[in-house]
Amino acid sequence: MVSIEKIPNISIIVAIAENNAIGKDNDLLCHISDDLKHFKAVTSGHPVIMGRNTWNSLPRRPLPNRRNIVLTHDASFVESDVEVAHSIRQVLDLVINEDESFVMGGAAVYKQFLPFTSKLYITWIDKCFDADVFFPEIDLSVFSKLSESTSFYDEKSNVSFRYSEYIRNISINSDNMVNAMKYN
Ligand SMILES: NC(=O)c1ccc[n+]([C@@H]2O[C@H](COP(=O)([O-])OP(=O)(O)OC[C@H]3O[C@@H](n4cnc5c(N)ncnc54)[C@H](OP(=O)(O)O)[C@@H]3O)[C@@H](O)[C@H]2O)c1
Repeated sequence: MVSIEKIPNISIIVAIAENNAIGKDNDLLCHISDDLKHFKAVTSGHPVIMGRNTWNSLPRRPLPNRRNIVLTHDASFVESDVEVAHSIRQVLDLVINEDESFVMGGAAVYKQFLPFTSKLYITWIDKCFDADVFFPEIDLSVFSKLSESTSFYDEKSNVSFRYSEYIRNISINSDNMVNAMKYN
């Protein structure tokens, strides 16, 4: 069991549009080939944590070379090469000894993990999209920007985008973890 004194190292990786949009109709807003390569490079070798909807949206699953952890309340959910968690607490227990684990969506799961996430890997998409899921507001008094790339252009989706990394500069409040674990 995870004790509140020991907090696993959780990162979030996400692509966010200008209006904080992250998805529509259980799909991404656009498919930027270089961003998908970036996602693979950053997460390979590390556990990826996702909600059931995001799992359902993956064109190829499970994601290779990574522990795939899927959150669902469905006790009958079984997939080969997938670890299933039925609560945030179970996820934390599964990754307690990992050096870095990535929450990879979607909106419901980002919201629950943000209060105890150490690092954010954000691809900012410089466009507004019609969407039905959004990333929660990022408190910039809690996270500081570590780096930002130059802007790139994806011809196929006709969008400009850039990669940014943010690090938590305020220690994780264990009350936030306890509260998040109540959401089940
Ligand atoms: N832009 C990006 O980088 C990015 C990345 C990933 C996903 N997305 C987009 O996000 C959208 C999906 O997000 P979403 O919010 O609809 O769904 P989601 O977060 O992927 O999955 C939600 C589901 O996860 C399960 N779940 C969540 N919290 C749980 C908990 N504490 N305990 C047990 N199960 C839990 C529940 O599954 P059950 O209903 O089975 O119980 C819930 O319905 C899609 O449009 C996707 O394309 C965007």
